[in-house]
Amino acid sequence: MKLWQGRFASPMSADADAFNESLSFDKKLYRADITASKAHAEMLGKCSILSDEDCTKIQNGLDAILADIESGTLEIQGAEDIHSFVEGELVSRIGDAGKRLHTARSRNDQVATDFRLYFLNSCDRAAELLKNIISVLVSRAREGVKYVMPGFTHLRKAQPINAGQYFNAYSEMFLRDLDRFHTLKKRGSVMPLGSAALAGTPYPIDREITRKLLGFEAISQNSLDAVSDRDFAAEYIFAASLVMAHLSRLCEDTILYTSEEFGYWNIPDEYSTGSSIMPQKKNPDLPELVRGKTGRVYGHLTSILTVIKGLPLAYNKDLQEDKECFFDTETTLFSCLSIYTALLEKITLNVNAMYEAAGGGYSTATDVADYLVGKGVPFRDAHAITGKLVRYCIENDKPLFALTLDEFHGASELFCEDILQAVTPRASAEARNSVGGASKQAVRKAINSIVYRLKRY
Ligand code: ARG
Repeated sequence: MKLWQGRFASPMSADADAFNESLSFDKKLYRADITASKAHAEMLGKCSILSDEDCTKIQNGLDAILADIESGTLEIQGAEDIHSFVEGELVSRIGDAGKRLHTARSRNDQVATDFRLYFLNSCDRAAELLKNIISVLVSRAREGVKYVMPGFTHLRKAQPINAGQYFNAYSEMFLRDLDRFHTLKKRGSVMPLGSAALAGTPYPIDREITRKLLGFEAISQNSLDAVSDRDFAAEYIFAASLVMAHLSRLCEDTILYTSEEFGYWNIPDEYSTGSSIMPQKKNPDLPELVRGKTGRVYGHLTSILTVIKGLPLAYNKDLQEDKECFFDTETTLFSCLSIYTALLEKITLNVNAMYEAAGGGYSTATDVADYLVGKGVPFRDAHAITGKLVRYCIENDKPLFALTLDEFHGASELFCEDILQAVTPRASAEARNSVGGASKQAVRKAINSIVYRLKRY
């Protein structure tokens, strides 16, 4: 029986019922629904809207339902949604007292409250996983600070960088993500309960009591907005989309750096896959899957934004479509963060290959130009002189760091013996001591800053 059957002469047809239901996916909200109902009943009791006796019966009944669901003795099925299920089960267990639970509330403020409670938890889990990946990145950076690797722009070798600096770049991205989850959680910590269907309630409720019991930071200030606001879900999916964007970049690097062509890192066997036909293959399926799953989270962002677009005030059933995109976003986000963190911990660095590659592609040409600037040559002229030197190298099939002083003199008499050292990848990285730069000292400072900022969450 539907909660709202009274007005109707005949029951809903089976196909309409199947189309309308949300229990198949909103059953995930069972704990939040029971928690919110318990708080609502307690508040009704404290405000003398419910008798103490009814209130106790409801509390005990809800506790028993929760215990039975968690132990597996009660299966969630046979109702329109999780709210109808819990209420129906309560009424069948405790009778009239159960029928009083829905006083001064509607499913509209109930679903908005349940979903927010669920969301708050989900933000904490996302933050925890982000902290984990940043911690692993920090330990990889501490190891990497000793090594030099190629840095790319346009996926062409650009300048040597510090391997610690490389990992720090991703820590910075995930720190921003962590901060985003932190602030969006705070913004979403607003309790809609007490808004009832849309207009508020004539009962003398005390919303502060429920707010405190449920741990929300604030209560909503407009009942129409409160029952139809899903900004928190949209913000969550957006923040998740950015995490996925960052993660997919890291995965793309992983796929490239572990290829035969690059050979900078190895993925351990436990996190690799093979081919059914080519016996030699060792494939990076996991980072590829993370990269691929990024698209589905972006899809969910489009879904949620489209669901809320153009809705007339206040609640509309379209809003039932807010949940599946959210649930799949968090499942995808959590599994991708977890698996990549595990993989990142096990990656090994081929430090010699990285160093050798760092010197390729005339990657220290900027250092040659900077050297000439140090001798008083204007940068634009230094750039042109160095460009000619690079052309000489290309024509003579030599890297910059293999040129003799005589060959340097062919381009400019200003070069002295110390240029031979300045064009090595190590010296190039070490010269970059600016904040956030490639020198060991700068990278160590950056690691300390990351650790410091991480501790704030
Ligand atoms: N299953 C509904 C949802 O997810 C619950 C709210 C139903 N409210 C209503 N007025 N039909 O949005």
